[in-house]
Amino acid sequence: MKLGVLGLGTVGSAVVRYVLEEGHERIVIKKIAVRDVRKKRAVKVSRRLLTGNFREILKDPEIDTVVELTGDEKVAIETARECLKRGKHFITATKRIISDMGGELFREARKKQLYIGYRATIVGLFPILSFIQFAMSSGKRIKKVTAVLNGTCNFVLDEMERSGRSYAEVIKDAVERGFAEPDPTADVSGYDSALKLKIILRLLFGNHTADGIRLRQGVRKKGRALFYSGIDALTLEDVRFASEMGYRMKLLGMIFATEKGYAVCVEPALVAQDTILASLRGPENGVEMLDDKGEVSGWFGHGAGAEATRIAVMQDIESILSGYATLFPQDNGEDVKIASYEDIYTRYFIKLYAMDKPGVLAKIAGVLGRNNINIASVMQKESAVKGREFVPLVITTYHIDAASVYHAVSILKRMNIVDSRKLSCYRIIDQV
Ligand SMILES: NC(=O)c1ccc[n+]([C@@H]2O[C@H](COP(=O)([O-])OP(=O)(O)OC[C@H]3O[C@@H](n4cnc5c(N)ncnc54)[C@H](OP(=O)(O)O)[C@@H]3O)[C@@H](O)[C@H]2O)c1
Repeated sequence: MKLGVLGLGTVGSAVVRYVLEEGHERIVIKKIAVRDVRKKRAVKVSRRLLTGNFREILKDPEIDTVVELTGDEKVAIETARECLKRGKHFITATKRIISDMGGELFREARKKQLYIGYRATIVGLFPILSFIQFAMSSGKRIKKVTAVLNGTCNFVLDEMERSGRSYAEVIKDAVERGFAEPDPTADVSGYDSALKLKIILRLLFGNHTADGIRLRQGVRKKGRALFYSGIDALTLEDVRFASEMGYRMKLLGMIFATEKGYAVCVEPALVAQDTILASLRGPENGVEMLDDKGEVSGWFGHGAGAEATRIAVMQDIESILSGYATLFPQDNGEDVKIASYEDIYTRYFIKLYAMDKPGVLAKIAGVLGRNNINIASVMQKESAVKGREFVPLVITTYHIDAASVYHAVSILKRMNIVDSRKLSCYRIIDQV
């Protein structure tokens, strides 16, 4: 195998060091592309291996396999297309390539019998993809998927709960200690989880359906979109109240079979403390799945790090050497209907600050009742501080559709007996 590597940063250096030090006789690194060829490197490589122009690798007819580890989406897109055009196997760590362009790339690779390696885009959870592919090809139907897909978010939420420190303090510390990227926006906004959930959707429902699903941040609307929100607006108080009631806050990727199709989303949600998803601590990831026969399966693993990503890339290289085919999604052209995520029925946790005076609780319960929302529990905290106008109130509900809850919440926010700035609402997710 004649290898071209794009990128010699954290992951690229780990891959190149491993290949050079292990002296794999069937792998020859022919060229490595970087931005700055003069930069000091974490791994010792001959200067003549380096190029400042990644297109040299794409044009080199001797290179049969390209590993893209730049993190630059434009470079990754051009590289993917050129590799497939020129008959080269392509391995990548860039999630968006598989999430958004997977349909185009998989179709071309299948036609030309080329390998697309994407283990590094979903490190730690890749085995679940093979499982999904197997389950779908044997005619199973998925009823529900709940997944912790981002190690940084899980680490931050875990730290907030354990240490009692705010989101701002924990994320600052995580960046300083290297547990989060210098710019953690893609992780904490939920975007990274949404990209991974779409890769799972691609395997579950095929390219045809996945190609039609767009990622949309935060906005709660109907349509064939994967709406995502993150943990960056979470307050320590919400994490604490959830904990007091026996729940743990997680950023979850979710897929639910509804009567109108499959509803998908990424958002912070609560899981009971004695569930498997709640037991994922630090940067761990995990997926739980329920099928139409009532069988539950799952996979739990460590989220990405340079070493785990290096192993994922090496596994793809080994697969090519062994002649294995790409893990392609089932693509029978069937269009699976994507429902509005307002159609998902779950329990809810609503926290608000209500005026401390007679009749207020009845008014709030009235709004919920008129929207068909059945209250499961109410926790009101007394304030010992004299003159405090609003007191915290936490309500949990029985199963109800999201549209009814959002409508009730919007009414509550407009009432003068509620402090609209401090109202929050999360799904409570039962174990599958
Ligand atoms: N770091 C992790 O733990 C981790 C975990 C999972 C997945 N990933 C993914 O792995 C990929 C690489 O991440 P990383 O942390 O190794 O990134 P990194 O440390 O920033 O390294 C990026 C490398 O790509 C090179 N590069 C960037 N743009 C280029 C261009 N236009 N032409 C040629 N070379 C270019 C850089 O060259 P210079 O060195 O000259 O600047 C650098 O060597 C990303 O997709 C990332 O999301 C990373």
